[in-house]
Amino acid sequence: MPQQLTFLGHSVWELKTPEARVLIDPFFTGNPQAAISAGEAQADFIVVTHGHGDHIGDCVEVAKRTGATVISNFEICEWLTRQGVAKTHAMNQGGAFTFPFGRLKLTVAHHSSGLPDGSYGGNPSGLLLTLTSGARIYHTGDTALFSDMTLYAEGGLDVVILPIGDNYTMGTDDALKALEWLRPRRALPTHYNTWPVIAADAERFAQTASETLGVEVTVLKPGQTYAW
Ligand code: NI
Ligand code: MN
Repeated sequence: MPQQLTFLGHSVWELKTPEARVLIDPFFTGNPQAAISAGEAQADFIVVTHGHGDHIGDCVEVAKRTGATVISNFEICEWLTRQGVAKTHAMNQGGAFTFPFGRLKLTVAHHSSGLPDGSYGGNPSGLLLTLTSGARIYHTGDTALFSDMTLYAEGGLDVVILPIGDNYTMGTDDALKALEWLRPRRALPTHYNTWPVIAADAERFAQTASETLGVEVTVLKPGQTYAW
């Protein structure tokens, strides 16, 4: 398999390509769904979508231990540097850069991004990835539904990762609308059932997406992998 995505619980994903291990939103400590501990996480790159604690999580510790390069927005990279993280790569919305694993563009996400200590965390991001294999992944990040996300589907999408938990992000109804617009080959739900306030029925969401849209949704349990 040229690439695989492993769900590590709540917002945490590990992308593995032949070139690199990419850890997205390394929130382990205090994450009721965490499939591994912060001390077990491995990464060549860490991508942080925004500053909230359930995303930046254990980033400082994991980056220091592994020596991974952290990719995030400018303000979060500045903050990480002040915490002693040696290698960061700052970007901003609409900008793309070619890394060893492929080309990553930070997309708009309609959300907020304050850091756990109250520092300004810039703007939240989604991730548009074109891997070296040609596979295209759109991870919406924490976001409300917004129609401009259809722009990110141009050229086709192999996988969409999107939140379904409601309250802080899209819920299942808006996530279904997103899939109607995006029409990926595969969708992977995230950011739900971690706490009662974001309870969602992922299996029902998957069934509805398949029956009404013809979009296949794979519901991964923490620790499970989708490879293609
Ligand atoms: Ni958030
Ligand atoms: Mn979140």
